[in-house]
Amino acid sequence: MCGIIGYVGKENAVPIIVEGLKKLEYRGYDSAGIAVYSESGFFDVVKQKGRLTALDARLADFPAKGFMGIGHTRWATHGEPSDINSHPHVGNQNKIAVVHNGIIENYKQLKERLEKKGVKFISETDSEVIAQLAEYYYDGNIMETVGKVANRLEGSFALGIMCVDDPGTLIAVKKDNPLIIGVSGHGNFIASDVPAVLKHTNKVYYLDDKEITVLKKDTVQFFNMDKEPLMKSPETITWNPLNAEKGGYPHFMLKEIIEQPKVLRDTISSALSDNENKTVIRRIDITKFNKIVITACGSAYNAGFAAKYVFERLCRFPAVEVELASEFRYRDAVIDDKTLVILISQSGETADTIAAMREAKSGGAVTLSIVNVVGSTIAKEADFCLFTAAGPEIAVATTKAFSAQLVLLYILAVRFADRLGKLPETAGGGTETEDGLLKEIEALPDKAESILEQIDSIQKYASACVGYKSIFFIGRNIDYAIALEGSLKLKEISYIHSEAYAGGELKHGTISLIEENTLVVAISNCKRLHGKLMSNAEQVISRGAKVLLIGNSAGVKPDDKLSVIGLPESCELFSPSLSVIVLQLFSYYVAANKGLDIDKPRNLAKSVTVE
Ligand code: F6R
Repeated sequence: MCGIIGYVGKENAVPIIVEGLKKLEYRGYDSAGIAVYSESGFFDVVKQKGRLTALDARLADFPAKGFMGIGHTRWATHGEPSDINSHPHVGNQNKIAVVHNGIIENYKQLKERLEKKGVKFISETDSEVIAQLAEYYYDGNIMETVGKVANRLEGSFALGIMCVDDPGTLIAVKKDNPLIIGVSGHGNFIASDVPAVLKHTNKVYYLDDKEITVLKKDTVQFFNMDKEPLMKSPETITWNPLNAEKGGYPHFMLKEIIEQPKVLRDTISSALSDNENKTVIRRIDITKFNKIVITACGSAYNAGFAAKYVFERLCRFPAVEVELASEFRYRDAVIDDKTLVILISQSGETADTIAAMREAKSGGAVTLSIVNVVGSTIAKEADFCLFTAAGPEIAVATTKAFSAQLVLLYILAVRFADRLGKLPETAGGGTETEDGLLKEIEALPDKAESILEQIDSIQKYASACVGYKSIFFIGRNIDYAIALEGSLKLKEISYIHSEAYAGGELKHGTISLIEENTLVVAISNCKRLHGKLMSNAEQVISRGAKVLLIGNSAGVKPDDKLSVIGLPESCELFSPSLSVIVLQLFSYYVAANKGLDIDKPRNLAKSVTVE
């Protein structure tokens, strides 16, 4: 939530910052702003409510230029989106400019104290207090000032700070919000995420909490809060800068859906070939645990919910619980050193998932994270970490990272089941061997490709669905988990009301909402429950609904009430990886036909770093 970038170097900071902000716009897009240290010896500040295109237009009217600057794209938490509430914030004396990502929990107390001393606040934000406090403390040494300010702030923050008295020095500090430092031949950067700097460098440092960075055009130094220098090593990012571009697609979301066969291949190979993920999986001795708790938010939770069925079925483990991280963190859950807590997060920075991880650790549990972003907080703090090989995911609605999470979870379940002695040496009687299951997983990328060949028919079907006011998703067993994901995807990007139900639950209330021409999407991959799900479909059809069946189409005759999108034959435990692609494409084309801003849905932001 909120993207920040800063640059100090040999080139004009303005286009570099604006371009970086465009790569961070997925983090927030209700307003944006930029401050540069200009040749006049002051800050030029341009702030604008609305998308970055609006800021771009303002910058054309007020050209700013300088070799050091900071920029911000906002997802409002305190104060409505407006020019004044946009960042950067500058103190009353125009000496210090600040961009902030996070929430300052004690801002009211700090503000009251500063107001009593005559400081005038102009915005409704919590962030302005940082600039005003910095000016209040400033005594000629900006680094010391930043240290004092950081010690006073409660809550979460990633900050970029400039002072007019020190025109070649950019300062960064963070707590519980991500910040990276990029180093390049022409200058140095701070940013909320790697894609913002990828065009300039693949060498980045990941800041830890309460580390202060002093950036100049050709040096970067790190200090702790006692101003002692710290030694840090840069990491080399292997992401291809082109992965963070649309590459000719109308939206990142479509590009990311289409990348899934490759992402599946890369992620499977990362866990099965000799490589870091394989080593991590080997190091976890599942026999030491008597409970697995999977916790995450949003789609990552849905991936965990699907995985629960796989863990239970293959490992026959006594307890596999799945819980939303926002609930788990406050539940006082019964966990101990015999509990393995699995945290799933694309960004590795989701505030609730971080809190759940810390809660689990403080209860003595062992933590294993599944994360897409190297160097992120969850990746660094969990006891074990597996990386999804999804590459940068830019669209706010997750697709390829979700698919990568699923396959890693399948592989984990198969390996755990084998370690627990639950898999037979030879197949038979409906049981699968470890090799057989892994072969099924390895076959998924080709099957995903064959689904993408049906893209035209999915688009055609979705185009006819734009008029629905409400769409229901049903499934049973693992198909119910994926129904939840289908429903979430649809509502977040198309703004159509949607709910997902376990097929058997419909009769317990929801069926009263079914009327003439309601659409019900039924997912059916569980063979032994196919007949039951088809009965649920019949029940809604006989009350006027239309049904789209995704999955097992054997013996099903489509008609004007029942449409079918068949899936390639696969082991039902791993079928969510196939049905989800149809659901993603369905949602995408419904939203595209409504002409919506698919990559940046209203009110949402990727990487929810605030509670
Ligand atoms: C939905 C979506 C969100 C995220 C959730 C968790 O399409 O993207 O529901 O899955 O905010 O984010 P991460 O995985 O970064 O922890």
